[in-house]
Amino acid sequence: MKVDLYERIWMWGALVIVVVFLTAIGISTFAYAVRPPSHMETIDPATVMQDPRFSTPGVTTLPDGSVHVTMIAMTFAFLPNEVHVPAGHPVTFRITSMDVTHGFEIAGTNANTMVVPGYISQFTYTFREPGEHLVVCNEYCGVGHHTMQGKVIVDPAGATTPSPAVAP
Ligand code: CUA
Repeated sequence: MKVDLYERIWMWGALVIVVVFLTAIGISTFAYAVRPPSHMETIDPATVMQDPRFSTPGVTTLPDGSVHVTMIAMTFAFLPNEVHVPAGHPVTFRITSMDVTHGFEIAGTNANTMVVPGYISQFTYTFREPGEHLVVCNEYCGVGHHTMQGKVIVDPAGATTPSPAVAP
């Protein structure tokens, strides 16, 4: 079969592009460990409310003094909707979803994570100044996506008295 020279050049060019793309995807998947955010801690999304790690969402201070915020994302709300945390103190956020993929972005900061059902997203952030921050869902999750929001209120250091950790 006679294939024109330019036709052959473009065919080989297209093949090279496909191979380059597949190689890039392969390298990013296996070498850079593309995976859900955070530390791959899993949870059954159907029983989040019963799971001891999430049965009492809210702010707790652990015996070592560290502040933890446990939050559940669902269509179309965060539970709890509003949390108080201290300024100038590392705050660890632990978030999971009961249904679909959500986002958790604390406006005005670089605290931002995807919330993928089946996994717990965790990060630690220190708020330097007291103030109020809007929390928004930044992953499209359904018809009420734009209404899905919460609030993080940063109190002056020492002013917040989070409830003590409840033994599960
Ligand atoms: Cu939840 Cu968008």
